[in-house]
Amino acid sequence: MKSKLGYLLLIIVIAGATIGVMLLRENIATRKAEGKQVVFSLVNLDETTINPAEWGKNFPRQFDAYKRTAEHTGTKYGGGGSETLSPSKLEEDPRLKTIFDGYAFSVDYRQRRGHAYMLTDQRETKRVQLPFKQPGSCLQCHASNTEAYRKVGLANGAPGALSDPLVSDNGYAQLQKGFELVGKMPYDEATKLVEHPVACIDCHDPQSMQLRVTRPGFLNGIRALAASDAPVPHLPTIEKWRKGDRAQPYDPNLLATRQEMRSFVCGQCHVEYYCGPKTTLFYPWNNGLKVEQIEAYYDNYKFPDGHRFFDWKHKTTGAEALKAQHPEFELWSQGIHARSGVACADCHMPYKREGAIKISDHWVRSPLLNIANACQVCHHFPEEEIKERVTAIQDRNHALLVRAEDATVDLINAIATAKTAGASDEKLQPARELQRKAQWRVDFINAENSMGFHAPQEAARILGEAIDFARQGQLQIVSPPTGVTP
Ligand code: HEC
Ligand code: HEC
Ligand code: HEC
Ligand code: HEC
Ligand code: HEC
Repeated sequence: MKSKLGYLLLIIVIAGATIGVMLLRENIATRKAEGKQVVFSLVNLDETTINPAEWGKNFPRQFDAYKRTAEHTGTKYGGGGSETLSPSKLEEDPRLKTIFDGYAFSVDYRQRRGHAYMLTDQRETKRVQLPFKQPGSCLQCHASNTEAYRKVGLANGAPGALSDPLVSDNGYAQLQKGFELVGKMPYDEATKLVEHPVACIDCHDPQSMQLRVTRPGFLNGIRALAASDAPVPHLPTIEKWRKGDRAQPYDPNLLATRQEMRSFVCGQCHVEYYCGPKTTLFYPWNNGLKVEQIEAYYDNYKFPDGHRFFDWKHKTTGAEALKAQHPEFELWSQGIHARSGVACADCHMPYKREGAIKISDHWVRSPLLNIANACQVCHHFPEEEIKERVTAIQDRNHALLVRAEDATVDLINAIATAKTAGASDEKLQPARELQRKAQWRVDFINAENSMGFHAPQEAARILGEAIDFARQGQLQIVSPPTGVTP
């Protein structure tokens, strides 16, 4: 009797175990099949996969967020979320019409908005329409263009094939050649070569998904910066490269740390540049990233026709003026966050949780719409307080910016009045030079998109200098002071 019960128990145990094992096997088989499915549904990505929707099949979460850059958002100073075109900066601030007189920016100049719009906004701005002519270079930062550049490069004698990795001698040669040639085409023709705004392929290697930079302007610019002796303590691999034998130029794709790359991918476009018809697009970093280092580079730069660098001749005063554009990378470089190793992506593409997965938020936008993920990971203050601190910085910067613009407008008016009264070019020239200096500084902070946040003290220093130069210019006209060198 006893042993019969024992047998029965044994049978039950064995049966249970068998069922358990069978269930486990089935479970494993299902998981394996699922695993395989993921592997099999992978789209094979290569250097010709431009369409982000294809990448989205492998990485749906990043793609979903990427698409949200089409949503309209706005903060006190950030974004430009309207349903049609963004609000006009010129209507918001009429001083800019006086400051940019005679330049395309006095006709159409708007707030930025999400990445989804970069190509259409460029095609639609009055700045690319008659009477203004623009070069194909404009597309460098407004489209996904690695393939287009490489194809044009290959068709014009660059070595290798499109199947070469982009980060290789051949890949770079194709990219560079195409960049130069497409840049020279008229905008209307060049824009037909591209169809997507910034896409996955512009920041990621299609095989390894590693971050990479692909804009030739950035590759050339960062190389020139590395070759200079301007201190860049926030970019440690440049400092390291300088101490080496320098046999090869600095290449961020081979040398930069992951954390540096998290800023470089943005620094590809969010930078000051020259993109006119006179020479190939370049980033003016040969002396460093600070406002006066860039100014010195422009002052010494000669166009192929031998003339000193300028962006446009001011219509009423005749000054050879400089236009700054979105120097986010440059200003960030002077701030406490860069110095503390905080990258653009830390604030603008912070990590977020989706279920069990931690991913980078590809909805690139104002961090003030996302303070919990963007700031509170490091700053343990309530959301409202963080926002107030930012607003305090921005309000102060804005107040100083308006004063600097007023001073610049006053100088422009003073020169114009003296000119009408018959003052000679010789008499006006020192004041014009001071207009160039003041305007360049005002614009550096006005065109920078954080309203001072990326480096508050540096922004205040620059605006203080702008006010000083503008008032010195006025003095030059009324009664030239002694001992002031413009
Ligand atoms: C410490 C966080 C932080 C870092 C690092 C940072 N930013 Fe920002 N950024 C901000 C804040 C805050 C604003 C102001 C947003 C606003 O006014 O809505 C801003 C504004 C901007 C804007 C305008 C946003 C808009 O909605 O109009 C751009 C463009 C931008 N940053 C680019 C960059 C780039 C490029 C880098 C790296 C070179 C960078 N930022 C680094 C916090 C950061
Ligand atoms: C290929 C060039 C390019 C790259 C790379 C790029 N941007 Fe932009 N970004 C632009 C352009 C152009 C716009 C303005 C689009 C418009 O107004 O139509 C813009 C707009 C923005 C805005 C304003 C968004 C809004 O809703 O107002 C932010 C913030 C921003 N970029 C941050 C970044 C950050 C951070 C990175 C790096 C992760 C980055 N960008 C990489 C070109 C670029
Ligand atoms: C080095 C990269 C770069 C180049 C080259 C470039 N842009 Fe942009 N552009 C940007 C970035 C970044 C923004 C978003 C930040 C801003 O609006 O300040 C932008 C914004 C814009 C905007 C929307 C806001 C506005 O200014 O009205 C227009 C339109 C535009 N660019 C047109 C052009 C044209 C035309 C050219 C050629 C002359 C050009 N861009 C060349 C990077 C670039
Ligand atoms: C403007 C540059 C930029 C563009 C465009 C971009 N990414 Fe990213 N991506 C990043 C950055 C920055 C990270 C963070 C990488 C790191 O820290 O190593 C990232 C990370 C990733 C990762 C790693 C996992 C994660 O989320 O951190 C995947 C996968 C990814 N991106 C997919 C995509 C896809 C798919 C697209 C196109 C729909 C895309 N990315 C477009 C900049 C970009
Ligand atoms: C990865 C960490 C990190 C992130 C993310 C970060 N910060 Fe910071 N922040 C720092 C560090 C480090 C400092 C330097 C002060 C210190 O050492 O405590 C700093 C300083 C500041 C300061 C003082 C600035 C000054 O010039 O003295 C402000 C304001 C600030 N952060 C706001 C923000 C806001 C707003 C965000 C989100 C948009 C943010 N931070 C995101 C690390 C971070």
